[in-house]
Amino acid sequence: STSPNNSTAQTWQKVGTVAQLDQKGQLLAQNSPVGPVLVVGTSKSKNLIAVNPTCTHKGCTLGWQAKKNQFVCPCHDAEFGPDGKVKEGPAEKPLKTFTAKIEGDAVLVKP
Ligand code: FES
Repeated sequence: STSPNNSTAQTWQKVGTVAQLDQKGQLLAQNSPVGPVLVVGTSKSKNLIAVNPTCTHKGCTLGWQAKKNQFVCPCHDAEFGPDGKVKEGPAEKPLKTFTAKIEGDAVLVKP
């Protein structure tokens, strides 16, 4: 029997390679099976951070600000912590977060 291909929500999804992640310390997958994902870290990190980088204010794509350990919106300067929580408005809702891991050469995330 074949397993349905529409149940992507609860399983690990590949969003890129370890080489891509290590190159910049982050990896943006715009069209992953679970939507846009930004993974922050490297293969040496204890914990990878992964969020949907779509700002919950008006949908701009957030950037990662390593020095301040936060995501920042280029449009109206909202700030979010690594846990996706709002640190500074105008956004009010938290980011969707993912669990991330490395397996072999692949970077995987799960809702
Ligand atoms: Fe991100 Fe407005 S779209 S703060």
